Amino acid sequence: MTKPKKGMKIESLKGQIQKGKGVDIGTMFVKCAHKESDDVVFKSQRNAFFDIEHTDFTKKILDNSGVRYIIKENNLYIVGDEALEFANMFNKETRRPLSKGVISPSEKEALPIIELLIKSVVGEPAHKGEIVYFSVPGEPLDAEFNVLYHIKMVEGFLKTLGYAPKAINEAHAIVLSELAEEDFTGMGISFGGGMVNVCLSFMSVPIFKFSVAKSGDWIDQQVAMATDETASRVSSIKESSLDLGKEGDLSKIESALSIYYNHLIEYVIENIKERITRTKKLPRLTKPISIFLSGGTALPKGFCNRFKQILDQLKLPIPIGSVRMASQPLRSVAKGALVAANADESRCKLLVK
Ligand SMILES: Nc1ncnc2c1ncn2[C@@H]1O[C@H](COP(=O)(O)OP(=O)(O)OP(=O)(O)O)[C@@H](O)[C@H]1O
Ligand SMILES: [Mg+2]
Repeated sequence: MTKPKKGMKIESLKGQIQKGKGVDIGTMFVKCAHKESDDVVFKSQRNAFFDIEHTDFTKKILDNSGVRYIIKENNLYIVGDEALEFANMFNKETRRPLSKGVISPSEKEALPIIELLIKSVVGEPAHKGEIVYFSVPGEPLDAEFNVLYHIKMVEGFLKTLGYAPKAINEAHAIVLSELAEEDFTGMGISFGGGMVNVCLSFMSVPIFKFSVAKSGDWIDQQVAMATDETASRVSSIKESSLDLGKEGDLSKIESALSIYYNHLIEYVIENIKERITRTKKLPRLTKPISIFLSGGTALPKGFCNRFKQILDQLKLPIPIGSVRMASQPLRSVAKGALVAANADESRCKLLVK
């Protein structure tokens, strides 16, 4: 990616015809950002599927109502947002083609499903070879899986659609989306479903990036085990009413959620500390850096304060200025990937001239 100019803002690209797209391929959602005149437009699909018994008649009904599906051997899989609707109707869980941020090794239908989902959010390229940046997780510190295989497969899907795909680290994308005012120097952290991703960047160049394979899903599972509830019920309470600033009068599930949120934040900060200490050539930072928090797991009320409190206790070996939530926590990865794509497309245009 071209290094963005000092002080460049997304807004500074206003008025230009901007090609390029940014795609966030997350464990729970696949999202695409593109620009229509001055507005960033997002398309999103739930990264899920649900298999149903089918007849020619069912297929006809699904075709007429525009439901996305694939047929493999004798199975019909409903894909994307509608998978959740069907699962709710049958009182069952959806399945996911991604696990912990990468193509799931245990779901054999994962590949065609993720291909269909990507296609449905990115659509046709504006021109052959339009640049699309897609998000990938950093190498996990605490799990073994193959990020390279995932990257190559997604690249292949996007190339087949006529794009020129490039991978961008998920947390680096947050830096590009949120830290323009600070010359893209600072830290982006994404608290997603399957993982937490961290990137420390200096003038838009990543100093380090990593992920841990614990995040929202892990919280749901731990709390479910501790309270003898189902993970779906825990998740639904967490998403609808959790307030991490609330003190006293907590239900059993709320108390457990609070404990596991603490544990997750401490775990992430300890790992950041470790990485900073281990990084040999840390650039000289002339002022305290900002940290931007993003992702679905960072959404509950009080999350940012909880993070700040734990950071105050554990302390990092570099000066930290502000800790803030990203402006659109569920969209900043796609938006950051779009910033990278727009910058590359503008550079290509200059080279052609
Ligand atoms: N309002 C909310 N409060 C708490 N948690 C939420 C809320 N909304 C979503 N989540 C949780 O956020 C997680 C999904 O976050 P996000 O959409 O950022 O993930 P993703 O990008 O698809 O996954 P990943 O980055 O791990 O691959 C899930 O664990 C979900 O339960
Ligand atoms: Mg994510």
